[in-house]
Amino acid sequence: MKILVTGGAGFIGSNFILYWLKNHPDDFVVNLDKLTYAGNLENLKEVEGNPNYSFFYGDICEGSIVDKAMEEVDVVVHFAAESHVDRSILDPSIFIKTNVLGTQVLLEQALKHKVKRFHHISTDEVFGSLKLEDPSKFNDRTPYNPRSPYSASKAGADHLVRSYFTTYGLPITMTNCADNFGPFQFPEKLISLAITNLLEGKRIPIYGDGLYVRDWLYVEDHCRAIETILKKGKIGETYLIGSTIEEMNNLTVIKKILKYMGKDENYVEFVKDRPGHDRRYAVDWSKIKKEIGWKPMHSFDKTLKQTIEWYTLNEDWWKRIKNGEYKEYYKKQYGEI
Ligand SMILES: NC(=O)c1ccc[n+]([C@@H]2O[C@H](COP(=O)([O-])OP(=O)(O)OC[C@H]3O[C@@H](n4cnc5c(N)ncnc54)[C@H](O)[C@@H]3O)[C@@H](O)[C@H]2O)c1
Repeated sequence: MKILVTGGAGFIGSNFILYWLKNHPDDFVVNLDKLTYAGNLENLKEVEGNPNYSFFYGDICEGSIVDKAMEEVDVVVHFAAESHVDRSILDPSIFIKTNVLGTQVLLEQALKHKVKRFHHISTDEVFGSLKLEDPSKFNDRTPYNPRSPYSASKAGADHLVRSYFTTYGLPITMTNCADNFGPFQFPEKLISLAITNLLEGKRIPIYGDGLYVRDWLYVEDHCRAIETILKKGKIGETYLIGSTIEEMNNLTVIKKILKYMGKDENYVEFVKDRPGHDRRYAVDWSKIKKEIGWKPMHSFDKTLKQTIEWYTLNEDWWKRIKNGEYKEYYKKQYGEI
């Protein structure tokens, strides 16, 4: 089988490629990536020389490039996106271009190339915000209510993907996943930022009161969920993917990181809140468990410790990132802390 992975040089995409080639060594993987600030081919060093892997540099918004990359492809797994909410607040336009228009270009080419499956990766953020005291969780019947330019652009892409199934019969599947953490995550997201700041002896910026709840999933569990859907998922279906953790707010997550890294709470710095910050996300993943047998396998605390260890051992990887363009963005976002 030949798989086209878009955005394979990013955090989840690169974890997926490494996972896939390890578990399906006879398959061929093409990685189409524009290498934005978030794309890093170093993530894929382990498979660089693998004859069943190839890298295709390009933008998913360019039809002629996607056309070439999709030659003889059986399955598309579409990760490529602008993925950071804070950046979408600073400049929404690139989010609309890549996430909405880029997805439409891919769908069009997928029809032309008659791919057997187009799997679209989306987020739980399209469903909006739950209240802290509300016991309910998102499921695949929850109405969309995106509240940031990022989630609005992902929602737009989701609707397009479903429309290509209904209108043209493109064999799609879709997932809306909770927040991921693990190796190779760009150090702008909460967990990777906190760990790398502590390793640099810096404080951790926390938005507002810190009582924002996310449903943290270890990235390998996400990769395994996509694998399960490619094998057993029903065409046209959407599956929600979440974790087994007790609901935990950002402050609790940060306190765990401080504890595991032997630091005290003086390393926390509360900063001005993100505009429109969603209070709580929680995912009901009973459908994917009941229908095709996936459930998360990793414990939060154990994989959080492993993730801390990974960043500790791979200082060169994140230091190169933090010394580049990211430095300017960080100052703009959090000031000098
Ligand atoms: N990170 C999370 O917690 C999370 C949770 C749920 C869903 N998702 C979704 O998963 C996907 C991957 O997220 P991530 O965190 O790995 O993102 P990321 O920002 O780490 O990586 C995105 C990748 O896409 C590439 N890319 C961006 N624009 C492109 C373009 N125009 N053409 C080709 N490549 C392009 C980048 O170079 C990068 O390699 C996204 O669709 C995101 O919305 C992420």
